[in-house]
Amino acid sequence: MKRILLIVGGGIAAYKACELVRLLRKAGHRVRCVLTESGAHFVTPMTLAALSEDKVYTTLWDLKDEAEMGHIQLSREADLVVVAPATADLLARMAAGIADDLATTLLLATDKPVLAAPAMNVRMWQHAATRRNVAQLRADGVTVLEPDEGAMACGEYGPGRLPEPPAIFAAIEAALAARDAPAPLAGKHVLITAGPTHEPIDPVRYIANRSSGKQGFAIAGALARLGARVTLVAGPVALPTPLGVTRVDVETAREMAAAVDAALPADAAVMVAAVADWRAKGAAPQKIKKDGSGGTPTLRLAENPDILATLAKGDHRPRLVIGFAAETEQVIDHATAKRARKGADWIVANDVSGDVMGGDANTIHIVTADGVESWEKLPKDAVADRLATRIADALD
Ligand code: C5P
Repeated sequence: MKRILLIVGGGIAAYKACELVRLLRKAGHRVRCVLTESGAHFVTPMTLAALSEDKVYTTLWDLKDEAEMGHIQLSREADLVVVAPATADLLARMAAGIADDLATTLLLATDKPVLAAPAMNVRMWQHAATRRNVAQLRADGVTVLEPDEGAMACGEYGPGRLPEPPAIFAAIEAALAARDAPAPLAGKHVLITAGPTHEPIDPVRYIANRSSGKQGFAIAGALARLGARVTLVAGPVALPTPLGVTRVDVETAREMAAAVDAALPADAAVMVAAVADWRAKGAAPQKIKKDGSGGTPTLRLAENPDILATLAKGDHRPRLVIGFAAETEQVIDHATAKRARKGADWIVANDVSGDVMGGDANTIHIVTADGVESWEKLPKDAVADRLATRIADALD
C-alpha cells in the first residue's frame, strides 16, 4: 500500500482522474484527492470522495484545522504526488514556483516525487512557453509524462490528450518502484544521442540508415531509473520516450550537434546515434525529377560534423564520454582505433555481423583504457541496465 496525493486540474480530461482513482484503489493504494477550482467545474468533490473513500480538499481554507491537517503535512504524508490532468496553466505555475491556491501550495511545499500527466489543446502543448515550462519542470526533477496523440475535445488533432488511466497508473507504479530503488546517479546529468539522422536530398528524399534507436532509448531509461537526469537527443524514430527522460527530437546531424551542445554541461555522454557521415551538399529546394529535367541529378556530398569527437575534444567535455561502434568485422581492432581517434573514454563495440541493425539483442565489447571487456549476447534492455550500472560506478 502506498499513499498517493492526486491533484485534479481543470479540463475535459478530469473525468479520467475518476478512473485513475479507481485503478489505484483497486491496487490497494490510498488516494487523497485535491481538486482545483477549475477542476471542480468538470468533476465534483463528491465523486472523488466516493471513489477515494476519503475527504477531498479543494481550497486552502479546507485546512482550517491546521493542527490536525496542515498543508505541509498534506503535501508530505504521501509517497507520491500526482497531477492529472495537468493543465498548461498548472504546469506554468508549478514551473514558476507560484503558490496561489491549495494545489500549487502543496506542490511547492512537498518533499516527495511529483508526476504530472499533461492534458491540453495541441497548440498549447506545442507552444514555446509550455515547452519551456515542461523542460524546467523536468530539470527540477518532476516526471512529466508525454501526452497522447489523437483527436481532441476541441476538434483539433495532435499531442495533448491525457494518457489513458492504465498508462498513468503504470507510470505511477514505475515512479513508486523508482522511489524505493537505489539512485546512484542522483544529481548527475547524462546526455544521450540515439537513432539515425535523416539528411535531406530534396523535399521528399533523404539519406538514412537502419538504426532503430532501441539501444539508445533503453540506455536512457536505465540511466533515469538509477536517478540520473537524462537528456535524450533522438533522431527520427517512433519510439516512446522512456519514463523520466527529457527528449529533444532532431532530424539531421547538424541539428543533433546543436542539440547536444545546448544540453551541456553533462557529467557523462553516451553517443549511441548512428549519425550520417555525409549529407547532400545543397539539398534541392524542389523535388528532383526522374527524367532528369534540368540535368541528370548528381548527388554531391558534404561531411557532417563528428558530434562525438567534437564533444570529447571540446571545452565542456563531460567527465565520461562513451561512443558506440557498429562493426561487422575486426570488431575490437576497429573499436580500439576509434577510441583513440575520437578521444572517447570508452567505445562500446557492437558486433553486427550476420545481424541486421534493429534487432532486440546485442553482442558487445567495451574498449576502455584498461583493455577490453566482452559481454555475452544480451537483450538490449539487459545491455542498457548493465551499462548504466557501469556508468554509475565510473562516476562514483
Ligand atoms: O565513426 P563512426 O560513425 O563509426 O563512430 C561511431 C560513434 O561516433 C558513435 O558513438 C556515434 O554516435 C558517433 N558519431 C558522431 N557523429 C558523427 C559520426 C559518429 O557522434 N558524425
